[in-house]
Amino acid sequence: MLQKKIIKNLNLRRIRHLPTNISKLYFSIPKIILRLFFKFNLWHISSYRHRKYAISIVKHANAKEIRNKALEIGCGLGDIIRRLDYNTKVGLDNDVQVLKAARFVSKVFDKNKTDFNFYDLVNSDTLNEIYDVVLVPNFAHAISSKILKKKIEHIFLNNLSDSGEIILDVIEDKNLQNYRNFHSVDYLSESIECEIYKIGEFKHSRTIYSISKKSNHL
Ligand SMILES: C[S@@+](CC[C@H](N)C(=O)[O-])C[C@H]1O[C@@H](n2cnc3c(N)ncnc32)[C@H](O)[C@@H]1O
Repeated sequence: MLQKKIIKNLNLRRIRHLPTNISKLYFSIPKIILRLFFKFNLWHISSYRHRKYAISIVKHANAKEIRNKALEIGCGLGDIIRRLDYNTKVGLDNDVQVLKAARFVSKVFDKNKTDFNFYDLVNSDTLNEIYDVVLVPNFAHAISSKILKKKIEHIFLNNLSDSGEIILDVIEDKNLQNYRNFHSVDYLSESIECEIYKIGEFKHSRTIYSISKKSNHL
C-alpha cells in the first residue's frame, strides 16, 4: 500500500520529462525576465528552440529564392519573423504589451530589424502591401473557419507576390481541449486557385501548410 503510494507520488512520467522541462525553463529565463518589465501573456515565455513548428517555418521561409518582404500576423514576441532572412520584415499583433516587448528585443538584438505594429486580423482594415511570405502560425485556431477563409482569400488575391505563399497551421485533433476552431486547409482554400503543400506535422496534431500561387515545391 505504502509502496504503491510512493510510486504514485513520484509520478514517473513527469520524471521522464524532467530533462526537457529543465531545458525549457532554462531557455525561457530571458523571456521570463522580459515579462517582468513588459507584462505580456505567459504563453510568450515558451522558448523558440522547443517549438519545432516554428523552427520548420523559419527554415521553409528562408529557403525561398525571392526573399524581399515577409509578414507575420499574430507574431507575438517575433520569435519567427525576427529569424527570417528577408529585406523587409513586418510583425503584426493585436496585443500591445507583447508588441512593446518585441520592438525592444528587435531594437537591442537584431541586425536586420523587424517593424512591429498593431493589427487585428478579424477587425482591422485589409492589408495594402505585397509580400513574398505571409505567416499566420499558431493563432488561427482562435478564429472561426468562416472568417479565416475570407481573410486567407483576400490576402492570397491582394497581398502575395507571384512566388508568394501563405503559411498557416491547422490543428487536426478535434478532441484537444485548448483549441476552439479546427480548420480544414481544403475548406480554407476552396475558392482560390492555389497549390497546397504540407510543410510538416507537429505536436498537438498541428500541421503546417503552405498555400501558394504556383508550385514552388516541385
Ligand atoms: C500563441 S501566440 C503565437 C505567436 C507566434 N505566431 C509564434 O508562433 O511564435 C498567438 C499570437 O496571436 C495574437 N493574436 C490573437 N488573435 C489575433 C488577432 N485577431 N489578430 C492579430 N493577432 C492576434 C496573440 O496576441 C498572440 O501574440
